[in-house]
Amino acid sequence: MQLIDGKTLAKTVQHSVAADVAQLKQEKNIVPGLAVIIVGDDPASHAYVGMKEKACKNVGFYSMVHKMPETISQSEIIEIIEMMNNNTHIDGILVQLPLPKHIDTDTILEVIDPKKDVDGFHPYNAGRLMTGLESFVACTPLGVMKMFEAYDIDLEGKDVCVVGASNIVGKPMASLLLNANATVTITHIHTKDLKAHTSRADIIIVGVGVPALIKADMVKEGAIVIDIGINRIADGSLVGDVDFKAVAPKCSYITPVPGGVGPMTIAMLLSNTLTSAKQRV
Ligand code: GUN
Repeated sequence: MQLIDGKTLAKTVQHSVAADVAQLKQEKNIVPGLAVIIVGDDPASHAYVGMKEKACKNVGFYSMVHKMPETISQSEIIEIIEMMNNNTHIDGILVQLPLPKHIDTDTILEVIDPKKDVDGFHPYNAGRLMTGLESFVACTPLGVMKMFEAYDIDLEGKDVCVVGASNIVGKPMASLLLNANATVTITHIHTKDLKAHTSRADIIIVGVGVPALIKADMVKEGAIVIDIGINRIADGSLVGDVDFKAVAPKCSYITPVPGGVGPMTIAMLLSNTLTSAKQRV
């Protein structure tokens, strides 16, 4: 069994982004800029945004965080996004999800200029990904693909089971895998027999937010297991969606939590924002 070390790989990506930022600054006087919009007081969301802000600083980006109260109206959020769309110092706009219930997330995401949609959540980018065209790709699935590349894991013809069908993770993950010629099964909350699907997969990718959902008897010997879940359990520790202790001995490769996919998500956000800055006209 080999651990896929997301923490180290993310550092490598960040170093490469930082080097490109320095060059972009020197040659074109461009400093990549990221605007983050966060609504409400959810501690986990604030922790994620804090990490994103810190990462931006580390690679030399310009970043601004708009912290909005829970009570903000939809039109006020739209106004801020439109301001960021028109701000020439801003290359990437990220609206931290989830948004409060009175806000329509789909409407908000469609206001973001697709050229600044570094989260890849705008239907324009999601559609382009699905058709195999160049696009901004959601950071978590993109980070998983980077891991496969870094560890020379070939996807062609592999049976991959994606557990979770969200717009943020499961659907873009499945599109990327399909574009890489894998055979993809997407399972979700309504799937009748999850084990039947996971136990025949060469690769399992899970991101649903259920601690220890994937047990040893659901995993084929020698499988590759990618755990996207980040769950804080009663004792305060962070665990994934995989029963790591029991599953790891059966795997050829597995990602730990923490230190697996999580750091890659932020690294790919930086990478997408850099790409956007390079395309500045
Ligand atoms: N909430 C959970 N994951 C994400 C993410 O990747 N991007 C944004 N904007 N919000 C999230």
